[in-house]
Amino acid sequence: MSTIDVKVAAIEQVTTLVKHFTFVKEDGSVLPAFSGGSHVVISLSIGGRVHRNPYSLMGSPEDTSAYHISVRRQERSRGGSVYMHDNVTVGMQFKITYPVNLFSLAKKARKHILIAGGIGITPFMSQIADLERLGADYELHYAFRAPEHGAFAEKLNKTCGNRLHCYIDSVGERLDLSVLLGNQPLGTHVYVCGPNAMVVSVLEVARNFGWPENHVHIEQFLAPPIGEPFKIQLARSNKEIQVPADMSMLEAIEAAGVEADFLCRGGACGRCELQVLETDGALLHHDHFLTDAEKASCKKIMPCVSRAKCERLLLDI
Ligand code: FES
Repeated sequence: MSTIDVKVAAIEQVTTLVKHFTFVKEDGSVLPAFSGGSHVVISLSIGGRVHRNPYSLMGSPEDTSAYHISVRRQERSRGGSVYMHDNVTVGMQFKITYPVNLFSLAKKARKHILIAGGIGITPFMSQIADLERLGADYELHYAFRAPEHGAFAEKLNKTCGNRLHCYIDSVGERLDLSVLLGNQPLGTHVYVCGPNAMVVSVLEVARNFGWPENHVHIEQFLAPPIGEPFKIQLARSNKEIQVPADMSMLEAIEAAGVEADFLCRGGACGRCELQVLETDGALLHHDHFLTDAEKASCKKIMPCVSRAKCERLLLDI
């Protein structure tokens, strides 16, 4: 996958847990165009191992002189966010992928309802720039734990005015999804990005109110889970690889020098799908792309997040 060479131009501590990073092209030229909701994948070299983490672009798509991302520090993760917080400094150089949009705004929507939980606000920052530019009808519903954790709330207040509705958990404010989704004009689209419980609730309430499935948009990239080590065999590359406990299958395949396809690296897009040629054990599917029937068939696997518990797993790559 082709990449862009960038360097860190600025770092801002937004809340105690969130940092905002600004990247510019090393040669000073403009970056590729993107649309609201796009993400890039950043390669981080941590302890001799390459981590590739997806982050939503937050800046205005009108301004490609820089890319902006925000990272929430996750202590119990595999280290990518902690590395970004503790080790990345202004001037450091990185390789990032070209922007891809798996969370785009529906062009024909009559109204847009954006629902964010915590750091899930990031893809909406660029979407709001697009919606404001288009003069579109939208509402942003933003839930966060406490006033000090409402990253970008002030900035959003200035941009969105009375379109912004904040829900602060520590003062008992709750977003009532039934009220919100039960009373919208036909042609409205809803978008959600946040913790799993929030995404599941939005999907359920929308389904109960009979929202068309293609009017409900989710952005949910999962972090590859830590698990037991296991071995895989790559049929076309003729390699046998150990997948360590804290590495995804996709990362292990890449570390072995085998090129593999990906877009989200979070179990959402389906791009990394591999055919399972043989296995003698259980596939541990963690993605939310494959259907239950596909998962049960043991014929396909998403190596960016899924794992296996077996002695033999022969993959078509
Ligand atoms: S890269 Fe998107 S599902 Fe694996």
